[in-house]
Amino acid sequence: MNFTRNLIALALTGFVASTGMAAMDKAEHAAAKDRISADYKLAKEHCDTLKDNAKDVCMKEAKGKQDIAKAELDARDKPDAKSDYKVAKARADANYEVAKEKCDDMSGNAKDVCKKDAKAAHVRALENAKVARAEAKPADNMSEKRADVAEAKKHGYRGRAAFKLKEMDEKHGLLKPGAVIVDLGAAPGGWCQIATEKKCKVVAIDLLDMDELPGVVFFKGDFMDDDAPDKLKTELLKLDRSGLADAVLSDMAPNTIGHKQTDHLRIMAVVEAAYYFACEILKPGGTFVAKVFQGGAEQDLLKDMKKRFEKVKHIKPPASRKDSSEQYLIATGFKPLDKG
Ligand SMILES: C[S@@+](CC[C@H](N)C(=O)[O-])C[C@H]1O[C@@H](n2cnc3c(N)ncnc32)[C@H](O)[C@@H]1O
Repeated sequence: MNFTRNLIALALTGFVASTGMAAMDKAEHAAAKDRISADYKLAKEHCDTLKDNAKDVCMKEAKGKQDIAKAELDARDKPDAKSDYKVAKARADANYEVAKEKCDDMSGNAKDVCKKDAKAAHVRALENAKVARAEAKPADNMSEKRADVAEAKKHGYRGRAAFKLKEMDEKHGLLKPGAVIVDLGAAPGGWCQIATEKKCKVVAIDLLDMDELPGVVFFKGDFMDDDAPDKLKTELLKLDRSGLADAVLSDMAPNTIGHKQTDHLRIMAVVEAAYYFACEILKPGGTFVAKVFQGGAEQDLLKDMKKRFEKVKHIKPPASRKDSSEQYLIATGFKPLDKG
């Protein structure tokens, strides 16, 4: 299903695709619109040659592709946060419609589970799109963001987040050749790229899909799920007989809902989960890095961390946007508890 792959690829290229293009003149716009309609017509004709569920799925894919292309076209003319949101929403809706249609080919409980998963993924995608829109308020911020994305692409990185880890590594020596790294919240994979550039072996997880990268074992899933830590541990055992890691890096950023206290609790919950996981699987001397917001980690957590690591500090890498409250907690020199 090349069409599905294209749709997924479109969904993943997300922000970059919609913001990296220059505005068009009227004639170009009209021609592009005609092309979109023609592509849709062709795709529908192809779908008509199919039968049953395959035909329905194909039709939804064709419609989704058309909607995404239209939203992208509008975003070229009016490159702003609202247009980017519309593109992201078109992608999310298209993926949802296709996923639901595929579920219809199942029966009984499998069908119900499939639909529930599809709905949950849709809700998550929409929340992510809203967060991106909220974070990209001023026009200056948008053009700055575009420049960052272009800069990342120029260096062959999947996103500007790559620069943050690169800078933290250059300053604090986090990544050693041959080291085993756990990357939590890894998509689209910028940190994995930096880690593998330094010849590290990586086990990574994210709610979202991530394109393959040599040297990285990737799981799509929620790190907060009960079975996620065990899945990561099983993979670590394959990389290193000790089953331990040299560093646990978390760039996880849970969806925000705009309610300050709730958002803070959600963020702290993932930081804490990442921290306790790191305490289980780090080698002596290991490193823990986590993204935190709004004044850093909670005092209790920080107190505990200072007992378990030789050095703990909050830093803001230069690549981290100044208008964001994001900062990183770097804890080095892990001291495992004496099990005796
Ligand atoms: C800022 S992005 C990470 C960027 C990444 N470090 C890079 O260099 O490409 C944050 C990621 O955290 C993921 N995330 C948030 N909560 C998560 C969770 N509970 N489990 C897994 N991934 C999560 C999001 O899906 C998102 O892709």
